[in-house]
Amino acid sequence: MDLRIVEHPLVSHKLTVLRDQATDSPTFRRLTEELVTLLAYEATREVRVTPQAVQTPLATTVGVRLSTPRPLVVPILRAGLGMLEGMTRLIPTAEVGFLGMVRNEETLEAATYAERLPDDLSGRQCYVLDPMLATGGTLAAAVQFLAKRGADHITCICLIAAPEGVERLRGLLDGLGVPCTVVLAGMDEKLNEVGYIVPGLGDAGDRLYG
Ligand code: PRP
Repeated sequence: MDLRIVEHPLVSHKLTVLRDQATDSPTFRRLTEELVTLLAYEATREVRVTPQAVQTPLATTVGVRLSTPRPLVVPILRAGLGMLEGMTRLIPTAEVGFLGMVRNEETLEAATYAERLPDDLSGRQCYVLDPMLATGGTLAAAVQFLAKRGADHITCICLIAAPEGVERLRGLLDGLGVPCTVVLAGMDEKLNEVGYIVPGLGDAGDRLYG
């Protein structure tokens, strides 16, 4: 598993405002979208393209276009839905599939309650969206699910993560056989005793939709 933390003053600025408990819900939603667009620029470095001839007003030249099959974007409901618009702004032609997952707040185990994805993901590049990587259980289950369907390149875009969760995810995805990258806006200090990221930004789902 490859880990990339995007170092950019605009990303840091927006993340700081997002963390602020005084930031209201409409601002939180807008900043989440903006941050995702910035992270998506980094996360799509390996998106597959195909050479394509183009006629400019002056000459013919060779450029590229996104390859088919189209990339698949998978927001993890509920909080990941707040990241979708920011991602599709950058790749408007992407297909979108949905995974509904919730973490049991006592056992910290992730459970899947909804799934709307293509049955066959062979040869597909997938982009998983979830703002928080806490214990890593949710993201591990999502990535394993996509790999089982045949996805052959998986990139997870998260806003923040706890180091313990990143290491657990690394272990759980070891031997998956599918290249997997996690792109973050920031790595936080730790998980607290109830599995929350510290300093974190609170409960992203509640701040977006609560
Ligand atoms: C949060 C978050 C992740 C998950 C992270 O979702 O959005 O999906 O917890 O935890 P983990 O890394 O320990 O598995 P939550 O279960 O609160 O659902 P919600 O998005 O519907 O609020």
